[in-house]
Amino acid sequence: MEKPLIWAHRGASGHAPENTLPAFDLAAKMGADGVELDVQLTADGELVVCHDEKVDRTSNAKGWIKDYTLEELRKLDFSYGNQAYEGLQIPTMEEVFDLLQPTGLSINIEMKTGIVMYPQLEEKIVALTHEKGWQDRVIYSSFNHYSVQKIKELDPEAKTGLLYADGPVDMPAYCKKLGADALHPAWYNLQFPGFVDACHEQHIDLNVWTINDAESMKQFVELGLHAVITNYPQKARKIIYGV
Ligand code: G3P
Ligand code: MG
Repeated sequence: MEKPLIWAHRGASGHAPENTLPAFDLAAKMGADGVELDVQLTADGELVVCHDEKVDRTSNAKGWIKDYTLEELRKLDFSYGNQAYEGLQIPTMEEVFDLLQPTGLSINIEMKTGIVMYPQLEEKIVALTHEKGWQDRVIYSSFNHYSVQKIKELDPEAKTGLLYADGPVDMPAYCKKLGADALHPAWYNLQFPGFVDACHEQHIDLNVWTINDAESMKQFVELGLHAVITNYPQKARKIIYGV
């Protein structure tokens, strides 16, 4: 059974403030194969990396990212209460590409297009990925499957994954219908009868979130997953490879 890739969820977010350059840098140092991150768009149309549509939870300010310019956002502190990282800025997508360029890591770019309808976010992320030469190291995903479809329209060669949770029936058939390459289910979806086998039979990659505890990692490693998305890439490496 092939071992799953380890993708650091929002970077090594169990160790450093989520979705920040130090979290992505740590992911590389901890032996992750890739990182997962979330993209949003500023008021002046810049791609930035942040999980929530608002800055309230992860910075020292309040409000919607869509209402801040990049320059304004850069003045905020995204250390998320972690004093060791005081003054940490929100990263742009371009900075993450540049940081990880020499590492060989891949990036799972999650488009946060579920609540705010960001104009042209898909066009912008595809253009930037190409400009930076990252086409072969990126997989795009979203809970908004219109966004995932849009990516394939813009770049038929792009790899895409459908994020979902809860219990929709026959996701492998749905994945094929939409022409996506992978399913990105919540971990508990793996328990549904016949689901994992059906994905294997139909050559659909399974990239599963978010697997943080050792017991689940041990259990899931046997299932032939393509990737596990975890806040603790170092722990995952120890469990999966024993080092
Ligand atoms: O992409 C996997 C996972 O990040 C999806 O949920 O809320 O952590 O972005 P969320
Ligand atoms: Mg995410």
